[in-house]
Amino acid sequence: MKVISLINMKGGVGKTTMSVNICDCLATRNNSKVLLIDIDPQFNSTQCLMNPDEYVNYLKKGSDTIINVYDRATRPLVSSVDGIKETIPKKIEDIEPLKIKKNFYLLPGNLELYRVEMTPGEGRENRLNKFLIAIKEKYNFDYVIIDTPPTPSIWMTSALLASEYYLIPVKPDPISFTGIDLLQSIIDDRKENLDLKIKCCGVVLTMVEDQTRVYKDAIKFLSTSKWSKYKYAKELPKRTAIARTQLDKTFILDLNDAQASSAITGITDELVRRTK
Ligand SMILES: Nc1ncnc2c1ncn2[C@@H]1O[C@H](COP(=O)(O)OP(=O)(O)O)[C@@H](O)[C@H]1O
Ligand SMILES: [Mg+2]
Repeated sequence: MKVISLINMKGGVGKTTMSVNICDCLATRNNSKVLLIDIDPQFNSTQCLMNPDEYVNYLKKGSDTIINVYDRATRPLVSSVDGIKETIPKKIEDIEPLKIKKNFYLLPGNLELYRVEMTPGEGRENRLNKFLIAIKEKYNFDYVIIDTPPTPSIWMTSALLASEYYLIPVKPDPISFTGIDLLQSIIDDRKENLDLKIKCCGVVLTMVEDQTRVYKDAIKFLSTSKWSKYKYAKELPKRTAIARTQLDKTFILDLNDAQASSAITGITDELVRRTK
């Protein structure tokens, strides 16, 4: 089971789009069994895979989300029938991801993470790792992809502790590149205090418009920086149709776009190679 986090300290660089489509590509094309974990309180990857009604019903039924992993507290539940009773959290190994389609599972995100972050809880940063160890044999996932929020937070630390690799999606513009160095300094800083085994498995360019000056400058910068050996050969082009897939629950491979399909399959193959 390879655990890979998609990380960038900047928002809007394509982390979610890349996470969802790498999972789709691994599941449908490579026939690998994948779990996508949405630890971003803004839960965009969940929104890409479940429509609002479906998600509300899922929560109403009491189905599991990332909250069940992080919030293990027993809390009082007030009921008009039974008075006050306690809700005891499910065992961590019983938390169930949702099957999206063949080979593709999702542990949905939850806006409630904002609330949980404010409440005390011991060892919360280790829970994601514990959850993955607990479900390892039951599900036998080949890949676990973690879509992360763009801010240093307890969720980010938990992803770093649970992952073997991180992949950095970047938009080819000067500001985004400064973000990669910042990201590395944050990870190095965490490494000093925590027992992290996480390694970089690549830098992948997203939302590429290859005729532009900023793209050409970005490539020049990248090729002379220490990140050059991490750069993926394939790059995801910028397309309105890709942005639209998030609204209609489709994937890049469903689009009739040879260049975009070849990009996502090439990126997925390189990820597989670099995490062997
Ligand atoms: N290759 C692309 N072409 C066009 N739009 C894209 C592409 N990748 C992402 N987007 C759009 O850009 C916005 C930010 O992308 P997203 O994947 O949510 O980034 P992040 O998770 O880093 O915040 C979204 O509206 C998304 O639909
Ligand atoms: Mg996102």
